[in-house]
Amino acid sequence: MSVHREIRKITTHVLSEMKARGEKISMLTAYDFSTAKIIDDAGIDVILVGDSASNVMAGHETTLPITLDQMIYHASSVVRGVVRALVVVDLPFGSYQGNSKEALNSTIRIMKESGAHAIKMEGGEEILESIKRILTAGVPVMGHLGLTPQSIYKFGTYTVRATEEDEANKLINDSKMLEAAGCFALVLEKIPAHLAKKVAETVSIPVIGIGAGNGVDGQVLVLHDMLGINKQFNPRFLRRYLNLYDDIKDAVGQYIQDVKSTDFPNEREQY
Ligand code: KIV
Repeated sequence: MSVHREIRKITTHVLSEMKARGEKISMLTAYDFSTAKIIDDAGIDVILVGDSASNVMAGHETTLPITLDQMIYHASSVVRGVVRALVVVDLPFGSYQGNSKEALNSTIRIMKESGAHAIKMEGGEEILESIKRILTAGVPVMGHLGLTPQSIYKFGTYTVRATEEDEANKLINDSKMLEAAGCFALVLEKIPAHLAKKVAETVSIPVIGIGAGNGVDGQVLVLHDMLGINKQFNPRFLRRYLNLYDDIKDAVGQYIQDVKSTDFPNEREQY
């Protein structure tokens, strides 16, 4: 395993070098200072302040309700905890689909008010003009294709995307367009592994997968899912590294018992 300890800060340039030499890129979500600090210290390459905060932090069913102000709050908290990782922030639903000026204004607010390093946007050709305008302002853009949760009401389900030829061809074309426009990387969510591999071999920018198999240049997971804080979400692509829901519940149960029994605080735990 080669974690890039010697590099002080991960930049978009470092990520492209990693792809060139075949070193896989690790990416996780974070939404607050304390967890961002831990995963940065562990050596994560990219931290995504995902609009999945809408689900895992706020308890909404979809990513649609989260606002630009809320994303900026989460992103600024994350940035304060990070020394090394590249911090990428999702443009939330409704903050960029209107037109390219709106997209640029939302991006500028994120960059100015949070101190993040890049933004991510869902979609291909339909948002190309906005991507180009943001790039002209000097802000790195990460694309996101395949299952794009902000379009859940168009898809109707969270099932695997691009299994049919037409959608697979559009995804390949969109990937090439995003690369040509100047995106520094691309997230592919929940698509067949062979298609994701083909995209990663076709474009020169790093392709980060979630539910997109092993043939891509890196992987991303939602932190709460991989730590087992959320027990309800069990897609096939998820590997759980901890079972924190039960661990936290047990610890809190023990605390309640200690308080009720007057075991806590003991003599050493008081003044
Ligand atoms: O919001 C998010 O967490 C994401 C990842 C699933 C890629 O977009």
